[in-house]
Amino acid sequence: MSTDSSPIIVTSALPYANGPLHLGHLAGAYLTADFFVRYHRLKGEDVLFICGSDEHGVPITIAAEKEGVTPQDIVDRYHEWNKDTFQKMGISFDYYGRTSSAVHRETSQEIFTELYEKGFFKLKSEELFYDESTQMFLPDRYVKGECPNCGYGEAYGDQCEKCGNSLNPTELINPISALSGKTPVRKETQHWYMPLGEMQDKLESWIKTREHWKPNVMGQIKSWLQEGLNDRAATRDLNWGVPVPLEGADGKVLYVWFEAPIGYISATKEWAQQSNNPEAWKNYWKNDEAKLYHFIGKDNIVFHCIMFPIVLMEHGNFILPENVPANEFLNLEGKKLSTSRGWAVWLHDYLEHFEADYLRYALGVTLPESKDSDFSWKDFQNRVNNELVAVFGNFVNRASSFIEKYADSMVPPLVDPQPIDVEMLRAIDTQRQKIEFAYEHFRFREVVQEGMQLARLANKYFTDTEPWKTRKTNETACFNSLHVSIQVVAALSVIMEPILPESMKMLRYQIGLSDSTKWSEISSSMLTVGQSLQAATLLFQKIEDESIQLELDKLQDSLKDLSTESNVDYPVLKSPIQFDDFLSLDLRVGVIVEVEEVPKSNKLLAFKVDIGVETRTILSGIKKHVDKDTVIGQKVTVVCNLESRTIMGIESQGMIVMAESPEGRLHFVESQAEKGSILS
Ligand code: MF3
Ligand code: ZN
Repeated sequence: MSTDSSPIIVTSALPYANGPLHLGHLAGAYLTADFFVRYHRLKGEDVLFICGSDEHGVPITIAAEKEGVTPQDIVDRYHEWNKDTFQKMGISFDYYGRTSSAVHRETSQEIFTELYEKGFFKLKSEELFYDESTQMFLPDRYVKGECPNCGYGEAYGDQCEKCGNSLNPTELINPISALSGKTPVRKETQHWYMPLGEMQDKLESWIKTREHWKPNVMGQIKSWLQEGLNDRAATRDLNWGVPVPLEGADGKVLYVWFEAPIGYISATKEWAQQSNNPEAWKNYWKNDEAKLYHFIGKDNIVFHCIMFPIVLMEHGNFILPENVPANEFLNLEGKKLSTSRGWAVWLHDYLEHFEADYLRYALGVTLPESKDSDFSWKDFQNRVNNELVAVFGNFVNRASSFIEKYADSMVPPLVDPQPIDVEMLRAIDTQRQKIEFAYEHFRFREVVQEGMQLARLANKYFTDTEPWKTRKTNETACFNSLHVSIQVVAALSVIMEPILPESMKMLRYQIGLSDSTKWSEISSSMLTVGQSLQAATLLFQKIEDESIQLELDKLQDSLKDLSTESNVDYPVLKSPIQFDDFLSLDLRVGVIVEVEEVPKSNKLLAFKVDIGVETRTILSGIKKHVDKDTVIGQKVTVVCNLESRTIMGIESQGMIVMAESPEGRLHFVESQAEKGSILS
């Protein structure tokens, strides 16, 4: 494995071992990392791909409490399960560790102790929430309440999932214990804090050297820095986790976000031990030549770009990340993915019905690389049927079955090639270069698209050169198009390996190309004339409408199941108001008579609403939620006495009332009454 190039270490966020993996996981931190790693392996580079289970922290203990089992039961179950799912999805980790391992406990305690001895931590006494009925402190997600920032009623003690703000439990309005549902009391305790505020300047000078990072990542980092970093406790009052290695710290464990990223280092150590070269981990973590890449989802940016780098910097002796190519979020059928609401596609379930490669491809073209993107089953089906089957598979099949039938299953010669042949062969190189460029810039959608583009060009070439005609009229021309086509097939079998590892392995076998073929060997003459080919089999199978309908039904059913349960996470009720407060609202039934786009806004629409007495102009940020072409004539509820406001140069005279469903969709509030009717 060792070459002259610098070692590369790639990590994917350690998923919590508190549940199975879904589409959002794959699209966030694993698929792109795997493309990247497979590409660098093909280039013959020394690359190590590390991941594992995040087995500590409140997400685990809450899952255990819900099921009435121990945290250990939970992590044992999901660690094995997730490891297996990743493997079946073709995610090619070199090592999949777990943070409950002894090596991890020692490594994270060692790092904590060294920082402690350097005087890094600040010991603070403070009053934190405590649940008297269960006699437990309530860190992080053990407290729920109203977000002080956006008013969302179901914010967690560490973060509001609605506005994305990170929080301290004590900032929540009307806090309740997630354990007992009771209001917690405040109780004195002590914790060791990371002085992130004091480290800000140092971090910033390093961040300045990272200007080439993806804009979505840089944007988040800069906004954190602009707000000013706050100190963050590195310890918690919990009995599940890595014990704090200090005297008098009984009942305290390391904060999961302090310890989990260290899991990347511990897992590398374990990999080294297992490869009988226990010191080999240093080649990646303590080698200035090595390059570290963290692949994560956007909710992990602050931890990987601010907190962990500060820990690494202050500790010294470790390299800092070369890049953190974080992805945005993946929505599902136009709605926010939510496991608690059953709005998710589980990977183990997917794998029971379809090939891993299909999803790798379909997700690959629609990755939420620079903004959130959407997965829909229809799109999945179209990608598979119209691209993998109809373009790529069809081309490969046509080329190989023609060779089987008309060239004795052997690569035919290329004699006196015409411009169309030469041009096709050249496209191999052009596409290869475009793809290399895309990899270097972490543009994985482009990687996939440009790969498919080669297949598309080749499919067209096959059609244009008409070998079924030239077979009878001009054998040289026929052989030329078969020769060129099968050379493109060979190139594709390597170019598309990172995306479609299983099918490309099959394809290489069919054309007799070794599995150890390197990226640098991609050319227009990878196969030799006269070389024999195996019988062609179909690479991809069409997906029928019924299979897709089944998936759509399943999704709806899982959503329904939950909404009939009594414990759906509805926002808590607001505090009571006086009857007069209600009467002061002027609510009327209106009819939408016109709708227009608002220039430069991707959220707002400008409506004209007839409320009987007059017609109002009302701006509403619901563009994503309504179909502009069908809203004329729609009855709506209007708040008529809201002070008017000028937004983007347009005066908005009132508000259209919208109902927000639990998964975040907005709907009009219709009425059977005629326009102008008053709600009271
Ligand atoms: N378990 C975390 C999550 O799912 C990710 C941990 S990444 C690590 O959001 F850096 F902490 F390992
Ligand atoms: Zn909020």
